[in-house]
Amino acid sequence: MTLSRVNVALSVLLAAMLLAAWAIRVDPQTPNWEFLPDMQYSPAPEALGSSGSFPDGRAWQPSPAETIAREQMPLHYAATAADAIRAGEELVSPIAKDDAKARAAGAAVYRVNCAMCHGPQGHGDGPSTKRGVPPPPSFITGKSVQMKDGQLMHVLTYGQGGMAPFGTQLTIGERWQAIAYVRELQAQGAAAAQPAAAPAVTEPTNVSPAAPSERDKP
Ligand code: HEC
Repeated sequence: MTLSRVNVALSVLLAAMLLAAWAIRVDPQTPNWEFLPDMQYSPAPEALGSSGSFPDGRAWQPSPAETIAREQMPLHYAATAADAIRAGEELVSPIAKDDAKARAAGAAVYRVNCAMCHGPQGHGDGPSTKRGVPPPPSFITGKSVQMKDGQLMHVLTYGQGGMAPFGTQLTIGERWQAIAYVRELQAQGAAAAQPAAAPAVTEPTNVSPAAPSERDKP
């Protein structure tokens, strides 16, 4: 007897649940109910959204006049060959030659931004050159060996021929780091090109290419 009572109770419960499900009719298109949505909605506006906090109603405010955002120091050159030469005369890398940390950071910048075209060792044979991108000149044998650091900065910032400008992708610090790493690749390339003769071992200073020591001369 008790069993049939349980069955009746369960049937009633099932009917009540079906009725409730029909009454609620969950619509998968609409969001669920929110219960205590305390932190669901942040008062912080989206960068490109609007904000009542400023007179112009914009969330993202332009920099105040006569200020420069950190790491966004502008260079004042035109994207011309003449200004590339001028940049070579005027701009000096802030990275010391023995700054291994900056060169390691430059290696990371290079790996991500340059190696696909210029190749891991700077020979101008990156993977993209096998797929239609015109191969860039070698850093080891090309004219970049003679170019001053500031001129490389001009190439990196404003581009040159088939090379796109990186002025907006990389901070100026990252560009200097990449240049420091290009110098390291050039030193390695020059060392590898040396015949394995005794003088290269006894006079290791001869191993570095002309450009880095040239640019140190006043
Ligand atoms: C999409 C391919 C590509 C990428 C990525 C690229 N370059 Fe280049 N780069 C070129 C090409 C092509 C040239 C030759 C441009 C010309 O003179 O016509 C070049 C030229 C240069 C030169 C001048 C070399 C010379 O002998 O005139 C330098 C320096 C240089 N690139 C550095 C870099 C650095 C550093 C990066 C990474 C931050 C980089 N490039 C990323 C394709 C690329």
